Amino acid sequence: MNYLETISKRRSIYSLNDQIPLSDEDILQLIQTVTVLSPTAFNMQSSHILILMNQAHRELWELTTQILKKIVPASSFDSTQKKMNAFSNAKGTILFFDDLQVIEQLKKDFALYKDQFDMFASHSMGILQGNVWNALAEKNIGANLQHYNPLIDDQVKEKWNIPLHYQLTAQMVFGGILEFPEPKDKLPADQRVQAIY
Ligand SMILES: Cc1cc2nc3c(=O)[nH]c(=O)nc-3n(C[C@H](O)[C@H](O)[C@H](O)COP(=O)(O)O)c2cc1C
Repeated sequence: MNYLETISKRRSIYSLNDQIPLSDEDILQLIQTVTVLSPTAFNMQSSHILILMNQAHRELWELTTQILKKIVPASSFDSTQKKMNAFSNAKGTILFFDDLQVIEQLKKDFALYKDQFDMFASHSMGILQGNVWNALAEKNIGANLQHYNPLIDDQVKEKWNIPLHYQLTAQMVFGGILEFPEPKDKLPADQRVQAIY
């Protein structure tokens, strides 16, 4: 599969199950490789990942459900519960973290760029998330990207012993693809990309 074919397969896929063509160890290895290969500003490598699979994955979505129960009105909780169940039915969730200590140290070491490092870290994190998403797509594994941070941060950190200076930035749910989504409306490419020859 060439690169464009691979990135065409990457979609936000919500209809997922826990049957995937890779073993748990292969998932870990794939994500480790993608992480090492992904570029970061100043080679800062501030992004970290914890992959929750199987029972740990289900515990994450149960924990999130319980937190949401306290803030979502009971009258509209049905749809929230359905969403949580859909996530829970998948194989795993990739938790992405920024190491704030690394970012703060760079602000001190390179004072000239100090106002840029939050943006650099966030761009690097975006590249990592995109690369992970594409790598899963290439293996026929579906995924969607969620942001229940900062609501769930404290409990996640406590439950899985995450250092306090790590900041949760996203949760990528992945699993076997039950239903591939319809194409989305996109602006014509020439409205977004031009060239001067
Ligand atoms: C930075 C970023 C944040 C996103 N956050 C969420 C999110 O919190 N929840 C969600 O369901 N989808 C989220 N998405 C998915 C986008 O809505 C989706 O990628 C976009 O509509 C294009 O659809 P596609 O992924 O199927 O190509 C996010 C995507 C990106 C790139």
